[in-house]
Amino acid sequence: MGYKELRFAVKVGEIQQEPAELIVVNLFEGLSRPGGATAAVDRAMAGRISSVLAAGDFTGKLNETLVLYPVGDVAAQRVLLVGLGKQDKFSLDIVRQVAAGVAKRVRELGVESYATIVHGAGSGGFDLQDAVQALVEGTMLGLYRFTQYKTDLEPREKHDVGKVTLMALEQEQTAIIERGITFGQAIASSACLARDLVNEPANVATPAMLADLARSMAGEHGLDCDVLDRQQMEALGMGALLSVAQGGYQPPYFIIVEHNKAGQGLPTLVLVGKGITFDSGGLDLKPADSMERMKDDMAGGAAVLATMRAVALLDLPLHVVGLVPATENMPGREANRPLDIVKAMNGKTIEIVNTDAEGRLILADTLTYAARFQPAAVVDLATLTGAVVIALGEGAAGLMTPDDDLARRLAAAGDVSGERVWRLPLFEEYDEQIKSDVADVKNVGGRPAGSITGAMFLKKFIGDYPWAHLDIAGMAWIDNGNAYVHKGPTGFGVRLLVQFLRGWLER
Ligand code: BES
Ligand code: MN
Ligand code: ZN
Repeated sequence: MGYKELRFAVKVGEIQQEPAELIVVNLFEGLSRPGGATAAVDRAMAGRISSVLAAGDFTGKLNETLVLYPVGDVAAQRVLLVGLGKQDKFSLDIVRQVAAGVAKRVRELGVESYATIVHGAGSGGFDLQDAVQALVEGTMLGLYRFTQYKTDLEPREKHDVGKVTLMALEQEQTAIIERGITFGQAIASSACLARDLVNEPANVATPAMLADLARSMAGEHGLDCDVLDRQQMEALGMGALLSVAQGGYQPPYFIIVEHNKAGQGLPTLVLVGKGITFDSGGLDLKPADSMERMKDDMAGGAAVLATMRAVALLDLPLHVVGLVPATENMPGREANRPLDIVKAMNGKTIEIVNTDAEGRLILADTLTYAARFQPAAVVDLATLTGAVVIALGEGAAGLMTPDDDLARRLAAAGDVSGERVWRLPLFEEYDEQIKSDVADVKNVGGRPAGSITGAMFLKKFIGDYPWAHLDIAGMAWIDNGNAYVHKGPTGFGVRLLVQFLRGWLER
């Protein structure tokens, strides 16, 4: 997969004395005089930063940058001044954005390595480890690009940053900064893996490829991995999942990845990710413009696999299970027909009114399977409905759960990680919409509350465990983005899930 190794180092000392190719200092918007490390650099270079401010040539607007070539006692070749925006709007997410803006500017300059102060740790007032983690995340996610299939890049376009040095004021800070780096790197490199998997086209990222990736990832990071094939799924009675797979040529796989499988007494958390490697809609074929994006319909599965990688790298003291049902949804000759009835693993019969509501079919059997782990909680991530894009756009994932405690935990993890969720209700009345005349349930509930009826359907297949559903259809792939989440695949869910799991440890 395509991200270049980016190294982070810690150094104790004053940034103006650092003999780097480039050093990074910052400034809040509207300040007439710099403070902290920026002031120290300003003094060492005879007030050059103050003169720029006095001239009004730099205002400190978010991600405004200015390259200065120092005179006097600054050891670096270049000084990059970056704007932090308004002080009262400052947050860990701004740290991510600033770090991303800086890294991309440095890359543009053709520079290989730089030293930076930790934005947010000084006058920002954030916990040092958290600020470092955010800085590392922003840097790596901002530098992310998918160039796998570009065969004609110029050397200049291939250039990437190789090393970032974080400056510590005193020796005692280095261990804290190193912890922040460890978390930031594990999380961001895994989120980049999720982006890669979604970027890969459906003729490459097949169910077999996802299964291979899970196996090799497990081997590399000490996870357990088991992959069920069609026969094994048949033996388990996964009739809903297999009915979707029937329409495609690519064989389906049910991927199971486990961290701390033998972990006696550790709480078990199960993560489920929708793994439709391509959603054509099936016989209820999607129109061309809606089908275009549908290689991203395994984004939930990609996020779950990538989260398992991060969990292994961080060796979280939890038993974590990742489940990814992987199949295409294609209109092949054995494909589901509208009004076909299938039997799910839990014995319930489903009338398939629309073959394009396939995500809930494959998740139904996966949620039933999840019960065997006797989990403390199950969280599923799925690009399940277009309706959630209408409801929440690119602002938040839809969160649906009957469990207030899980809702609170996921919302908190969303705020900290910057991958926000917003809860929608699961009132019993919505059940009316998915009643079938001929089977136990039907797989569509009409246009009203489309995301909620999707979740109401899933709820019929869960076991006796707390469960939350995240509809990430609006977040997995975006058209707008910011400095560190570019348009296209976002890797959404990795930062959120790792933070959710860390929160579980603080129970
Ligand atoms: N994968 C789609 C949902 C989707 C839509 C994701 C747009 C990202 C962007 C899902 O399988 C689907 O087709 N859902 C249908 C459900 C309907 C038939 C009840 C939808 O939302 O239209
Ligand atoms: Mn669909
Ligand atoms: Zn789908």
